[in-house]
Amino acid sequence: MCGIVGYTGRSEAAEIILDGLEKLEYRGYDSTGMAINDGKKIRISKAVGRLSVLENLTHGGSTMPGHAGIGHTRWATHGVPSDTNAHPHFNKAKTIAVVMNGIIENYIPLKQTLESKGYEFISETDTETVAHLLDHYYKGDPLHAIVQMMQRIEGSYALAIVFEDRPGEVYAVRKDCPLICGISDDGCFAASDATALLKYTRNVYYLENRIVAKLTQENGIFFYNQDEEEVKLPSKRIEWDSTAAEKGGYDHFMLKEMYEQPKTVRDTISPRIKDGDIVVDELGLSDDDIRKIEKLYIVACGSAYHAGVTGKYVIEGLARIPVETDLASEFRYRNPILVKNSVLIVISQSGETADTLAALRLAKENGIRVLAIVNVVGSSIAREADHVMYTWAGPEIAVATTKAYSAQLCAMYLLAMKFAKVRGVMSSEKFSSMLDDLRKLPDQIELLLGNHDQIARFANRYIAAKDVFFMGRGIDYAISLEGSLKLKEISYIHSEAYAAGELKHGTISLIEEGTLVAAVSTQPDLYEKIISNMEQVKSRGAYVLAITNVGNVAIEKSADCIIHIPDTDPYFSNSLAIIPLQQFAYYIAVARGCDVDKPRNLAKSVTVE
Ligand code: G6P
Repeated sequence: MCGIVGYTGRSEAAEIILDGLEKLEYRGYDSTGMAINDGKKIRISKAVGRLSVLENLTHGGSTMPGHAGIGHTRWATHGVPSDTNAHPHFNKAKTIAVVMNGIIENYIPLKQTLESKGYEFISETDTETVAHLLDHYYKGDPLHAIVQMMQRIEGSYALAIVFEDRPGEVYAVRKDCPLICGISDDGCFAASDATALLKYTRNVYYLENRIVAKLTQENGIFFYNQDEEEVKLPSKRIEWDSTAAEKGGYDHFMLKEMYEQPKTVRDTISPRIKDGDIVVDELGLSDDDIRKIEKLYIVACGSAYHAGVTGKYVIEGLARIPVETDLASEFRYRNPILVKNSVLIVISQSGETADTLAALRLAKENGIRVLAIVNVVGSSIAREADHVMYTWAGPEIAVATTKAYSAQLCAMYLLAMKFAKVRGVMSSEKFSSMLDDLRKLPDQIELLLGNHDQIARFANRYIAAKDVFFMGRGIDYAISLEGSLKLKEISYIHSEAYAAGELKHGTISLIEEGTLVAAVSTQPDLYEKIISNMEQVKSRGAYVLAITNVGNVAIEKSADCIIHIPDTDPYFSNSLAIIPLQQFAYYIAVARGCDVDKPRNLAKSVTVE
């Protein structure tokens, strides 16, 4: 996610905004900018690159005098990182400036409507839509224009806005993206993250969804609801120190990112569900192209590879297209046979992983079309692929991925369903019931995240474990791989994931009295099979933790402990089963005193072989 800072008060706004933006740098960004109202007009400075570029451009803010303004660190979503796409964005007359975090889901139809009314778009961003919409509605009353604009936009967002003819005022509003307001003797502040404010004040207001905040130079902050009536919000005092504030009050970035998963999943799915259909504009494959696909290759590393393993099960199962999933480091050197009408899908959070990039290049050299599923806009993989489908997870700071992986799973589901529908192998009833289940995932993930105490207690019992085994069949094998990786990378406990049917071909010899085995069982047609595997390890002394669907009573007699996941389509169960597995890895690593966010020997982005 990007960062927002707004200020109005007695001091020079630019200095305070630059200082606040610096505090937000840890979140990751690719460009920065600010807009300052000097009482007569609004000046904007923005640039791609580090904050120091903006500081140099404005001589530390001194070339932008004025007491009210807004600033932004951008993490590109719509449109590559560039000076033009950096925020703030203006209306044509340059009398309204806007910065935004989040995504406007319906920006394409809105842009078309605005263009038909004569509005010209300069950038590729969805945010510019907001500037033009405000221009359209603004007749001298900012509150009224903001409320009307909000009725037109869909998505999750946080906005800060300045109007030229309202010097000394800054407006802020949010829906499902964080934004807080702060107040001190010197002035009023708005920020997407408390870190930016702590130097100036600890007295804050947590802005509720759809409440418009008007920050004034002398008179404090006023809040208004969507009926444009003034409302009161309680003032709160922040007790965190700045390190805790960076993590939004969570102990670790990993935990914070785990809790961001409902939003990440929603942001990846909902913009792509339109009128009961799945629309992936960026796919670049016509329906005819999709019907002609003979084979798909999914290539990735680490957790992204695990998302690809899930992808194989889901796409083959639903769309009936043969899928080969490969580790990028294997694929690139095994002289793969690439069939003509095939598409290579690469998955990468960073978009910079060396082996994945090499696999992409290999496919392109052989005339194979490449679709990249990437989180970082403008990254090498995004630039070199023929088509890019972005996962809207925002920056991920913890080395062990959680939310980006969850978004990658959703990308797999969307592609599988889209391909199945276009190829005519899924009935419309099945398609709509799966869409319903897809829409429910964010709330179900939220529910599971609420089980943290139970999982933390369980994890505490296993802090001295030497080996942990994960097993599952089919799609549950895919999630076992990821559960095992999460545990070993952050807790340093040796763990293995096995396709449950392979147990007797080796692993079972490792089971001793008290060995922990996590058995994932979310596929009703395989319930009985996994129960018999559980019995086999239990009879050799294993302690069996089962992760299964609500209603699977048959498993009770074979498990020592059960974690239930809510009801969903079996193809989507990985998105739910991963939550307790992530929590287990996290709490065990915390209990063992490990450096959860920066595990030893690991890097977030592996740009070398
Ligand atoms: C590293 C990270 C993993 C990630 C893998 C692939 O190993 O620690 O979390 O899954 O790289 O990275 P990518 O950026 O391509 O998804």
